[in-house]
Amino acid sequence: MAHQASSSDKAGASASASAPGQHHAWIGSAGAAGTDLRSDTMTTPTASMLAAVQSCTLLDDVFQEDPTTTDLEAHCAALTGKEAGLFVLSGTMGNQLALRSLLTQPPFGVLCDHRSHIIKYEAGGVSTLTGAMMKPVVPKNGVHLTLEDVKANTYLDDDVHTCPTRVISLENTLNGMLMPLDEVRRISAFAREHGIKLHCDGARLWEAVASGAGSLTDFSACFDTVTLCFSKGLGAPVGSILVGDKTVMKQARWVRKYMGGGLRQPGLITAAARVAVDETFGKGPNGEGGLLKETHVLAKEIAKIWTDLGGKVVYPVHTNMVWLDLDDAQSSYARLMELGQEAGLKIYGNRLVIHYQIYQNCGFIVPRLGTIFETIFAEKAKGAAASGKPDGETSMYRAQ
Ligand SMILES: Cc1ncc(COP(=O)(O)O)c(C=O)c1O
Repeated sequence: MAHQASSSDKAGASASASAPGQHHAWIGSAGAAGTDLRSDTMTTPTASMLAAVQSCTLLDDVFQEDPTTTDLEAHCAALTGKEAGLFVLSGTMGNQLALRSLLTQPPFGVLCDHRSHIIKYEAGGVSTLTGAMMKPVVPKNGVHLTLEDVKANTYLDDDVHTCPTRVISLENTLNGMLMPLDEVRRISAFAREHGIKLHCDGARLWEAVASGAGSLTDFSACFDTVTLCFSKGLGAPVGSILVGDKTVMKQARWVRKYMGGGLRQPGLITAAARVAVDETFGKGPNGEGGLLKETHVLAKEIAKIWTDLGGKVVYPVHTNMVWLDLDDAQSSYARLMELGQEAGLKIYGNRLVIHYQIYQNCGFIVPRLGTIFETIFAEKAKGAAASGKPDGETSMYRAQ
């Protein structure tokens, strides 16, 4: 294995006496996240985040007087080339505020990929908070929406029977897969031509950028609003940012207030978020000096261990997620989770998320995954039966 624990990881590990998987604060990959492949939301805060919290400002952000928070908002606006940023408590809140602010006079419809977070995992919030009609679209290529998919599903006419498409919401990355910049540009040009607003659920846009698909400014220029999350692969404990032009952000700040998201002294969470951007994503709009790229390389290496044993993946590995085809391997979610537990790893569904704290702990993780994969294929060879699938819709953890 080419990867070694980084010096920052070693520092974090020696700062505490705990083994990976134990629960203490501020120890990064030496904490629970170091063995948790369920999601990049499991990343835990680091010693440098604690240092930033200790020196943050603690003034009122409803009055917009807290420099730690306003600096973070301005920094993210600058990174994305937008006029303004608004700190929000979660990715869901960012998406919902954006849609509530972009949609004005009903009737209005929102078009998105049928697997989008806004339609599957936000508790039906778009319906409740905006009343919009959702138009979920299945991408023909199985990976990402194209302009052709969008055109075929957009309501443009003013026939009184139709619900006109007012917002197109694109998720990038989606299930770890990229939507290429060229395709985003094509869809954006079409949307602008027809006066349709474009939102990006960029919870993991950082990952798309780190993979070399385009800069934050390149992608953001295509959208009216973009949500980016600090508490996924970047590792902050709390928070996301919504960016856009000043008029939409003013409206979003208003909506945030009536949803109860106006915060008094949020410096202690925005300070940690700033460290997450600077240290995990990197200092420039292309993620220069950041930690994400290495996780993508490791994800591909882990996928290769699986495919070298004869396994298939459900989706191509573009960034930090590996989706194991357990049906093809004649295994099951339950068996994978059980093997993970025996090896000291947390796994759920058929998705492995290779976040930076997994990378920092890869000397522990990779051999164990190798053994788990070998066991699965040995069981397949013996004809050991899979224990069946749970009923119901697929989820963000299971794609089969
Ligand atoms: C693509 C995407 N968008 C939005 C969200 C919502 O983020 P949060 O959990 O912070 O509300 C998630 C959460 O996992 C996500 O994966």
